[in-house]
Amino acid sequence: MSVVRQQTLFDLGEPSFTNRTAKAVTFRGKLSLPIHRWYRLTPSFSPRLADDIADYFALTNRDLVLDPFSGVGTVPLCMKHRGIPACSVEINPYLHFVATVKTRTYADLSGLERYLSDFLAEYRAALQAVPYQTRPDRYLLEEAAYIPKINFPERWWSSGNLAQLVCLRKLLLSRTADGPFFDLLRLGALAILVPVSNAKHNHVSLTFAESPLPTVDVAQVLAEQFANMTVDLRAVADKPQSDVTVFRGNSKELSRVLPRSYRRVTAVITSPPYPNRFSYARETRPHLFYLNFIESASAVGQLETDAIGGTWGKATSVLTAGVEPKNDVVKKLLTPHLKAIPEKGQLMAAYVVKYFNDLYDHAEEVAKVCAPKCRLAYVIGNSKFFNNPLPSDELLAAVFEHFGFTLDRIDRMRKRQSKSGLHEAVVFLQRGLS
Ligand SMILES: C[S@@+](CC[C@H](N)C(=O)[O-])C[C@H]1O[C@@H](n2cnc3c(N)ncnc32)[C@H](O)[C@@H]1O
Repeated sequence: MSVVRQQTLFDLGEPSFTNRTAKAVTFRGKLSLPIHRWYRLTPSFSPRLADDIADYFALTNRDLVLDPFSGVGTVPLCMKHRGIPACSVEINPYLHFVATVKTRTYADLSGLERYLSDFLAEYRAALQAVPYQTRPDRYLLEEAAYIPKINFPERWWSSGNLAQLVCLRKLLLSRTADGPFFDLLRLGALAILVPVSNAKHNHVSLTFAESPLPTVDVAQVLAEQFANMTVDLRAVADKPQSDVTVFRGNSKELSRVLPRSYRRVTAVITSPPYPNRFSYARETRPHLFYLNFIESASAVGQLETDAIGGTWGKATSVLTAGVEPKNDVVKKLLTPHLKAIPEKGQLMAAYVVKYFNDLYDHAEEVAKVCAPKCRLAYVIGNSKFFNNPLPSDELLAAVFEHFGFTLDRIDRMRKRQSKSGLHEAVVFLQRGLS
């Protein structure tokens, strides 16, 4: 009797980029995957998508892949384990840290286990002196200097949990140690900030639960996080490990951020912020402040203003002042869409203009770091402003065409949210074909 094997995506020929499941496009695809699961960024994409694009482009170890909007490092991590050299760029210092730590190669995993377990013992000993079950508020008053400088910390964490996190923070900040093990330790601590908080992942952005999380055993949550991390590092120990570097910087200045030896990119696989007013700085604010990746609210505002699609804090003041299309290319592309935005929507209009002004600068820089015939895959969602659809995928393609890239095709991968007309697409382009 012959066995009929079920067809997989790859038996069907090229990977398909239409009608994909949420798991094959979104963060859901990484929740159970080693290392990818260490920190949840909801608007990050599925490793499966990065892998399918790499297959579609038939990438090998002679390629150099760039992800100019690295997020939590999904693309560089996937490429590393395929043995394909890669680099990425991220503007948010905390996300840059996450991707850097996730994409390193670690030796001596038994040594790592001992290191993490010694730290846990030290933390548990320090907690003995913290009355987090009985009088957390008194402790918080005494240690006020160690409460992260985030607005309304009491909204994020119950006093008992905050007291334990303050004790953990004090220990971490007092260490002069440096190096890969210490970074893993810090990432473990950062990864539990949301799980022990009152925030929930019910929407794209974190929201606060109606009933706060009661006091939990934070050291135990940390121990479980460390255990998952070491299990994951063992699980990937036999996979290929290519050279991967995550650069911190602005993708509107790629030619300055990437060292000369990296300016020969053969494929770009990425997902820029969608023009949907999601704020990455806002989403990561507990992490940014907890280990001093950022020092002040004004620095967060600057980060938002420099980022593409930022809207929070100072970025809003920039939009309120009004933003004009930076040149005739952007003006011509946006005019039909801006006309559809009503007078009361001038802030939205400024948002859209700034977004595409920034994307223009980015595309110009991509052209500077790409090799001839470089292939691009941009994953992007469209938006609606005052019920008018903004075809972000087509507009992005048009911006790149201005810089000598040719549109291969736009595949609409899936419908987004329940609102009709919203989708996520992948825009395929190639340099220099016509
Ligand atoms: C859609 S997310 C990318 C998610 C990524 N694909 C992943 O799986 O984690 C967009 C990222 O671009 C970053 N970003 C926004 N503006 C940037 C800029 N000008 N330069 C570099 N990174 C930027 C944001 O901080 C965010 O992490």
